[in-house]
Amino acid sequence: MRPHPLLRPLLAALAALLLVLTPAGPAWAEFSLPPLPYATDALEPAIDATTMALHHDRHHSGYVANLNAQIPAYPPLADLSLDALQGQVGRVPAAVRTAVRNNGGGHWNHSQFWAVMAPVGQGGEPSAELLAAIEASFGSLEAMQSKFNQAAAGRFGSGWAWLIRKPTGTLAITSTANQDNPLMNLPGIERGTPLLGLDVWEHAYYLKYQNRRPDYIAAWWELVNWNEVNRRFAATEA
Ligand SMILES: [Fe+2]
Repeated sequence: MRPHPLLRPLLAALAALLLVLTPAGPAWAEFSLPPLPYATDALEPAIDATTMALHHDRHHSGYVANLNAQIPAYPPLADLSLDALQGQVGRVPAAVRTAVRNNGGGHWNHSQFWAVMAPVGQGGEPSAELLAAIEASFGSLEAMQSKFNQAAAGRFGSGWAWLIRKPTGTLAITSTANQDNPLMNLPGIERGTPLLGLDVWEHAYYLKYQNRRPDYIAAWWELVNWNEVNRRFAATEA
């Protein structure tokens, strides 16, 4: 049986109408919150489950949401990977730069933070190659940790302590304020590739440790995921 001669134009009109009526989805790729790679209580007792849940589900997710909120005002943001964004913060238009710096940094910093921690006993050890680089730059693993602890405890207010690999190839300890990190092309930041970063914002430890930041730092070393630090170090040699 032949179809009615009006069927084809009718279907075409319906399809066109559907295209007009269907709301366009966002044309950008939004940033997304990575899941924790372990349960919220997996890092007990060094970091309690309530702190982990609040830190990831409220603080980190807030940075992601606030970063995405900048996309309509600065659409090129959607075309940048989170890694690439860090090195370009200084070129973001002034109107959105502070928001992108704080929230893009917050998203990157926390994403690495979850990855460089593991339940006690599951983080492995520094690789022979990483250990050699640490000894060449600091004298010993203990000397590196001592310098890292000083940077973490001495960061006034909120910020991060970092073990980085500098463009020269040597390792260094540095610290950044707020949600800045060593990948950012901003004045006053010692640049390098972060191998290990510790969050020393009060939201990271205050429920359990109150004002005892050094106790939090000391306990945190038990959680370091050296397997991930080794991977990050090896990637800088590629
Ligand atoms: Fe944090």
